[in-house]
Amino acid sequence: MRTTEASDKGGEAMAKREAPILEVRDLEVEFAVDDGKIKVLDGVSFSVAPGQTLGIVGESGCGKSVTSLAIMGLLPKPHGQVVAGSIRFQGEELLSLPPDQMYRVRGNRISMIFQEPMTALNPVQTVGAQLMEVFSLHRPDYSKKQRQAAAIAMLHKVGIPEPERRFGVYPHNLSGGMRQRVMIAMALACEPSLLICDEPTTALDVTIQAQILELMKDLQTQTGMAIIFITHDLGVVAELCDEVVVMYAGRAVERADIYELFDHPRHPYTHGLMASIPRLEDVPKSLLKTIKGQVPALHEMPAGCRFSNRCPHATEICVGTNPVTEQLTDRHGVACHHWKELSI
Ligand SMILES: Nc1ncnc2c1ncn2[C@@H]1O[C@H](COP(=O)(O)OP(=O)(O)O)[C@@H](O)[C@H]1O
Ligand SMILES: [Mg+2]
Repeated sequence: MRTTEASDKGGEAMAKREAPILEVRDLEVEFAVDDGKIKVLDGVSFSVAPGQTLGIVGESGCGKSVTSLAIMGLLPKPHGQVVAGSIRFQGEELLSLPPDQMYRVRGNRISMIFQEPMTALNPVQTVGAQLMEVFSLHRPDYSKKQRQAAAIAMLHKVGIPEPERRFGVYPHNLSGGMRQRVMIAMALACEPSLLICDEPTTALDVTIQAQILELMKDLQTQTGMAIIFITHDLGVVAELCDEVVVMYAGRAVERADIYELFDHPRHPYTHGLMASIPRLEDVPKSLLKTIKGQVPALHEMPAGCRFSNRCPHATEICVGTNPVTEQLTDRHGVACHHWKELSI
């Protein structure tokens, strides 16, 4: 079970670590803009193992969605491009797959849930018809009747009451929470090995959010799928994730397992994010109360550490030189010139 004590969970994660299902290495993504190119992702690396949940956390504009779109092969064409790095999924390099094969990976092995379900659901098609379409791609052997039964069973599985009736309604007839459940049902209908959730609960109220998170945990226990959970909310990360990548302005600035990250955050930006969670009492508030300022626009990035213009600990070296990621242990990496001095 995922909610057992720390040592169990740590051991479990360690064992799983040996065979990641997805490995992202030194990923760089550029967007073409009016006056040239901007580097939106600048050397992002992480991995996730089967049955494991990896959190990607960071303020708005840090590159979380671009990271997930790159994995899915869905960067806006032609101006968004992966210019360096590798994305290996089940041992296969996704970046060199031809589009038709990538399409099959998306339909079968990797699914994604988006922040706003209305943009991903078809407003003029019933919930049932949309679900049946997923089954017709994933299970071409199914008859129409079997697809219908599978769709209703899936609605039931994600906790939608009266699934037979809900099968025939249109997305706008459902509440936000129910729509998000339909999205989850569609994402899970193809039994993915990896589910990418991009802020799936941000638009929902707290009670519904908690229900959806609980549901995702249950489904993961049943299916053993890996999850990448993207959020700007470290509180949600604490609930759900085994490991976390903290992103800032297109870079992964800290990476650690969940206990290590909350017990020993090393990057000043991580400290700042933690201090903004009201219910965590023992965070080092003295270091940084709230993070002042905003993520700089991409064409105004500081030359060195991209956090340097907001960091209360920044010195000359931070302004001039981009810190490399140092591995504190095999499960904890940080990209900060001063992490040793700031350690608590
Ligand atoms: N289609 C696009 N064209 C140009 N820039 C983009 C595009 N999509 C995202 N960006 C830029 O990439 C950066 C990262 O965006 P995004 O991944 O959406 O952030 P997050 O999901 O962390 O809020 C932002 O600066 C954003 O403005
Ligand atoms: Mg986003």
